[in-house]
Amino acid sequence: MYSTITPESQPVFHSHNRESSIARAAILPAASVMRAFVLGIALATMALIAPMIVAQTVQLSVDVSQPGPKIDRNIFGQFAEHLGHGIYEGIWVGPDSPIPNTRGIRNDVVAALKAIKVPDVRWPGGCFADEYHWRNGIGPQRVVTLNPNWGGVIEPNTFGTHEFMDFLDQIGAQAYVSVNVGSGTPREAAEWLEYLTAGQPTTLAKERTANGHPAPYKVAFLGVGNESWDCGGNMTPDYYLSQFRIYSRFVRNYNPEQQDKEQMLKIAVGPGGGEPRWTEWTDAIMKAYQNHQWSWDMNGLSMHSYTVGHWPPSFASVGFGETEYAQILKFTLEMEGLVAKYSAIMDTYDPQKKVALVVDEWGAWYAPLPGTNPGFLVQQNSLRDAVLASLNLNIFVRHAERVRMANIAQMINVLQAMILTDKDKMVLTPTYYVFKLYVPFQDATFVPVTFDASTYIHGDIKLPRVDAIAAKDKAGNLWLAITNVDPNQPAEIEASLAGATPKSAKGETLTAPNVDSINTFDVPNTVVPKPVAASVQSGKVTLKVEPKSVTVISIQQ
Ligand code: AHR
Repeated sequence: MYSTITPESQPVFHSHNRESSIARAAILPAASVMRAFVLGIALATMALIAPMIVAQTVQLSVDVSQPGPKIDRNIFGQFAEHLGHGIYEGIWVGPDSPIPNTRGIRNDVVAALKAIKVPDVRWPGGCFADEYHWRNGIGPQRVVTLNPNWGGVIEPNTFGTHEFMDFLDQIGAQAYVSVNVGSGTPREAAEWLEYLTAGQPTTLAKERTANGHPAPYKVAFLGVGNESWDCGGNMTPDYYLSQFRIYSRFVRNYNPEQQDKEQMLKIAVGPGGGEPRWTEWTDAIMKAYQNHQWSWDMNGLSMHSYTVGHWPPSFASVGFGETEYAQILKFTLEMEGLVAKYSAIMDTYDPQKKVALVVDEWGAWYAPLPGTNPGFLVQQNSLRDAVLASLNLNIFVRHAERVRMANIAQMINVLQAMILTDKDKMVLTPTYYVFKLYVPFQDATFVPVTFDASTYIHGDIKLPRVDAIAAKDKAGNLWLAITNVDPNQPAEIEASLAGATPKSAKGETLTAPNVDSINTFDVPNTVVPKPVAASVQSGKVTLKVEPKSVTVISIQQ
């Protein structure tokens, strides 16, 4: 379940600003050594407290004449596991709750998720999936079980198959169902899919009808096990492959509308980090895929990678400073290396890129908030997470040819959530707003952008100061997303466009006073997008992006 990342040594604070201040102090006239000394100390101290604010100019070259692949909207997917208050309280309050709901599902949460156009939701786990037995969660009488993975709490199974599909229907998302390989059987999974998707009057389809849903459901994605090298059953690659072949063959989707165009895509367990064991795992799975016979197939390979620093998670999710901001962002950028590494292995066996790399668990994993059940993975969500989310989404987008799906962990109340709830209260997180800003990138066409990112330095940490992606939507509008990683310096952006003549530009930006600024139930609008001024001058789009910000602009041509 956990990847081991060697922790960075604690960086010592010695910014270049401090050095330049000392240099300036050295050329003071020598009238009073003491005065100069005091002044020097004062300047150096000021530089430490308030680094010089100098806007850097960053030239972006956006080449609209060289469109790239489609940015699959499923890159903006979500993950909802039976874990803590992710499902119960986060989505499900039950039809008798005083919290406004539709058939037991919170109306406020549904409205918020509709606004970010969630393309798909992975469910019911995670580690939970390999202990989930779907029959416990259907019909009028639910079987009460336990959730041994996550706090050992009661699992009432009141949120089951029908409730999940109803939830998807209400938010307009597709189903990504993870079936139980670890402690289930191919027959159990095959029957679940028949129950879900059969259009003909089989006994299972009639049972579905009796439970309130005569029409077959659609299941867009099938996950075959979860982290089967670890919490999913500690399998070897060969053992997992023997299981995958069987599940791939027998767990069928019978929905008449999914036999041709909308065929269910089957996703195999892939790597969980950068260790050699996952290189071997990926190699074995992809090699088997290359030689697969007609009787089984695979459309996606899952990859999990959390931004954690080191296990167990120890970074605070709130109440931190610039050092922890820089450290976490450095860790998160390791995603690029992982995606590149596993894409390269996949290219060896699948040069046509038929199999998608599916990053179906990603995001920040911090220490649990004090006072919460550690098994519930409760953490705050700050401006740092917004920057982190944009950097990861940009990586996925740049690899859009191979990365065709990703699911942030997890949607509500767990890890890097979009939404936090407390009884009838709900708050939208900074990460939520990044997903909202990025909606225009869903299913848009990738447009290459080149730039010199320059460097943000904090202690011994060096990070690209600026990141940017561009895309053209179906209506022909051009979109540009710019992340200013630097928490101290704004950046002046000058974007030149090849293959397009900009007429006007407008957009929104997400920033806040501090790197750990958060939205709370009482003060929900600290980190919310605000309009940003952008102009077109001499054929170039220019705008200023604030320190530690995520900005998305549309360019009218
Ligand atoms: O998202 C929390 C857990 O992290 C998932 O259940 C598991 O797949 C991963 O290790």
